[in-house]
Amino acid sequence: METTIRQATIGNVTVYKSEPFDPVNSYFSSFIGRRNELRLITASWISGAHKMPLNPILIGVPGIGKNRLVYEIAKKTSHKLFIFQGHEDVTAEELCVSVRFGKTSNTMDYILSPLATAMIEGGICLLDEIGKCRPKALALLVSVLDERRYIDSNLLGERIHAHPGFRFIAATNTTDINLLPEFILSRMRPQINVGYPSKDEIDDILRRECDGLNSEVDDLIDLFWVMWREHTGQLGSIAPRDALYLFGLASRLSAIGETSEYAEHGNAISGIADTFPDKGLHTGISRVHLEMAFHKLFTEPKLEIPIRI
Ligand SMILES: Nc1ncnc2c1ncn2[C@@H]1O[C@H](COP(=O)(O)OP(=O)(O)O)[C@@H](O)[C@H]1O
Ligand SMILES: [Mg+2]
Repeated sequence: METTIRQATIGNVTVYKSEPFDPVNSYFSSFIGRRNELRLITASWISGAHKMPLNPILIGVPGIGKNRLVYEIAKKTSHKLFIFQGHEDVTAEELCVSVRFGKTSNTMDYILSPLATAMIEGGICLLDEIGKCRPKALALLVSVLDERRYIDSNLLGERIHAHPGFRFIAATNTTDINLLPEFILSRMRPQINVGYPSKDEIDDILRRECDGLNSEVDDLIDLFWVMWREHTGQLGSIAPRDALYLFGLASRLSAIGETSEYAEHGNAISGIADTFPDKGLHTGISRVHLEMAFHKLFTEPKLEIPIRI
């Protein structure tokens, strides 16, 4: 059988590889700060003839920038990045290989997980939300993280060895770290706490996002901090995602205000897309848009969702 670039051979079995994630796209504004974290991850991954790379774990609240850190390193090191999204129902075998019906009758295709693909390709594997995976599933990781650097697949009946270039990193929300079993945590070093960026760094993230579009952006950022301080009593302690969503929503509210077609017909989604610049935020954000967005995202009482029995 002719093999395609998505295919590889493990022992005697032909498998399909997972797709890498290429973070080079216009959704990402410039990367700000995080020098210490970048240094720590890079240092952890240094290896030598008799030294294995370490397997760091990023710990932080949602939206703080854990994924983004890994994207930056993948870009800087030109390594392929494979992301495995952890959740409660992941099984040990899924961490390694899955099967699907083949295109021709009576055949099955084996699909290597992002982890196993990173191992054979010498790429980076990010196991995101590792704290959500059950200990039973994570047991399979142990041989990947120690000197063995292999994974045994029952489905394939084969052992998958890691390429020397393979690097592993995991990320978890702060609240889930205590759910991780000791046999995994003890192999995940260093533990890197990803904290809130400083006020200046948040300012820079927002300025870059609004780059060249709004000369009043500094006034809007000042207004945002006044509202934030009133709301939380402190400066600086906002996750980049929340700050970006706030300005993103304000920007869309300003765009919709100018799209009369939408106001009249309520369905001109393509019209709205046309009024949006390719990159960055909409030019016309005013104080009112920012205040509306702030209220919607942060101060409006949360909806009580009725529990169905
Ligand atoms: N240092 C940073 N510079 C610029 N943007 C950032 C930075 N950190 C996070 N972001 C942006 O904030 C958002 C949330 O980051 P993400 O990495 O997804 O958070 P987490 O994985 O911790 O939930 C993304 O849009 C990301 O691009
Ligand atoms: Mg994340």
